[in-house]
Amino acid sequence: MASSQELFSAVLVSQKVKEIMPDTCHIRPLKRSDFHRGHLDVLRGLTHVGEISEAAWTERFDWMKRCNGTYYTLVIVDESSDASKSIVGTGTLFVEKKFLYELGTQGHIEDIAIAGDMQGKKLGVKLIQALDHIAKEVGCYKTILDCDPKNAAFYEKCGYGKAGQEMHHYY
Ligand code: ACO
Repeated sequence: MASSQELFSAVLVSQKVKEIMPDTCHIRPLKRSDFHRGHLDVLRGLTHVGEISEAAWTERFDWMKRCNGTYYTLVIVDESSDASKSIVGTGTLFVEKKFLYELGTQGHIEDIAIAGDMQGKKLGVKLIQALDHIAKEVGCYKTILDCDPKNAAFYEKCGYGKAGQEMHHYY
């Protein structure tokens, strides 16, 4: 059972990954109080985010939490950083319920970002391992993702393989 502050229950966070985090870092579910810990700044390293107020951020958090069993956002927190920048990594598993594959459940890895000064320290690979662990725990038969070709080698190191062709239709 998740606390009212957590997006989902911390029981789903891989013990194995927690044990191999660097000394000052830990990995946990996104919390309702994380707006001021630099969550959006980390995402800005990935793509356009825009100016989002705390009220709007919190409204989106609450909406995701109400979609029980659908949004699993993890953050990596570095306790040695300034509190306003202590989130140094984030990533989301989105869980899709299907009619196909005998009412199968499919995971989608979305919005993976590690802060610039923390890249190359194996945090990204741990984040993906932790999201894969949640996917297995909640019954996903597979997890898929779209990425820039320049990041394909990273995902291959995480155990992902190329399949299909990514398509976009912007509105
Ligand atoms: N190309 C090739 N290899 C890479 C890359 C890359 N872009 N990034 C990491 N690797 C390799 C590393 O060298 C390492 O290899 P090794 O085990 O042989 O030493 C391995 O992958 C693991 O690397 P990490 O240190 O765990 O990677 P990092 O913590 O830097 O995270 C990430 C990688 C998430 C791509 C990070 O660089 C980042 O946040 N980039 C900016 C945002 C971004 O592009 N996010 C991905 C969006 S795609 C999506 O969200 C589905």
